[in-house]
Amino acid sequence: MSRKNTDSLKWDVQKSIFGRDDLIPLWVADMDFPVAQPVIDALKKRAEHPFYGYTQAGSSVRDAVVERMEKKFQWEIDPEWVVFTPGVVPALHVAVRSLTHPGDEIVLQEPAYHPFFPVVRNSGCHIASNPLKLVNGRYEMDYSDLESKFQSRKERSHGQGRAKAIIFCNPHNPVGRLWKQDEIIKMGETVIGNGGIVISDEIHCEIVFKGRKHVSFATISPEFQENSIICMSPSKTFNLAGLEVSSIIIPNKKLRNGFLNAMDGIVPQPNLFGYIALEAAYREGDDWLEQVLEYLEGNLEFLTRYFERKIPRIDIIETEGTYLAWLDCRKLGMNNESLRTFMRDVAKVAVEDGYIFGKSGSGFVRMNFALPRSILEDGLKRIEDAVLKL
Ligand SMILES: Cc1ncc(COP(=O)(O)O)c(C=O)c1O
Repeated sequence: MSRKNTDSLKWDVQKSIFGRDDLIPLWVADMDFPVAQPVIDALKKRAEHPFYGYTQAGSSVRDAVVERMEKKFQWEIDPEWVVFTPGVVPALHVAVRSLTHPGDEIVLQEPAYHPFFPVVRNSGCHIASNPLKLVNGRYEMDYSDLESKFQSRKERSHGQGRAKAIIFCNPHNPVGRLWKQDEIIKMGETVIGNGGIVISDEIHCEIVFKGRKHVSFATISPEFQENSIICMSPSKTFNLAGLEVSSIIIPNKKLRNGFLNAMDGIVPQPNLFGYIALEAAYREGDDWLEQVLEYLEGNLEFLTRYFERKIPRIDIIETEGTYLAWLDCRKLGMNNESLRTFMRDVAKVAVEDGYIFGKSGSGFVRMNFALPRSILEDGLKRIEDAVLKL
């Protein structure tokens, strides 16, 4: 089913962003698959009741989140800990504002999801960069650098760095790492041990491959739970981004009240249809999700083999979670501008330029593989032909 003429950001707004509309869209992170039937049925049923006034999340919506956390991550939460927002990005902004004073620092692990940068800057804070290290084709965290970013906070009198919190991303967009328990523990101990808070963006937590399992930050220990803000949402898992609903789980009452105060008068409740979709997806969407994950895993295998066999000048970094592939194009020897032009005007694919994820993203591109395989194949063939022409 075509998404054209639906005001889709990916399909219909592409021309104003990329300057042409003959590109295969492999960029913004939503899926080119129709949503689960139970979600459509629930939305239709609610739409037929002709009152769309102010709405609060009822106990059944809260319970759906509570049950999801228990089922998927063995995390027992109290319904009161859940704060609903119309998206994770605004919630990150609220979280940062609730934890900082202007001039404080927030740690980002670059390459980082590009909206994290304005989240920090528009809160009046500075970015303290803790770049990931690429070791033998795999990204790792740099714990000693991280420690230095938070340690300097203790020595505030020296006027150096004042990191208050980290925006941690797991699974990581764009590099695709699903962080392991021991890595999460080291990161968490470093941040919390130095008085910081972990804002954990786990929006991609249910898109994981090869039997891997997502470990939610707060499930590690009561101390981690008390010192974190966990951002969850059905939007990536169930392809509901346009319905704008997310659940921010804040077990610590003081942090939660701070978050609610920072939100007051600025960030509204989600749209009522967001609540309906969240509940239907969490309660009845798992058969659909199972099929989608199987298909995505097939796409991932297909594109991995394609690059290995036919486009060896581009290396694919292993994707453990998310439906986003992180492609190392540095062997093509292009600068940011020429790689951008090459993908857009020669290959005719719309991918995300790596440099928007921070300096260490230069020479990389991010490619969305949540689409029908035939279109994915067409996109890969375009890249292959363009590389052959070089
Ligand atoms: C890591 C991450 N956080 C947040 C978002 C966006 O969240 P929302 O649309 O709920 O603001 C995305 C979307 O791609 C994402 O990848």
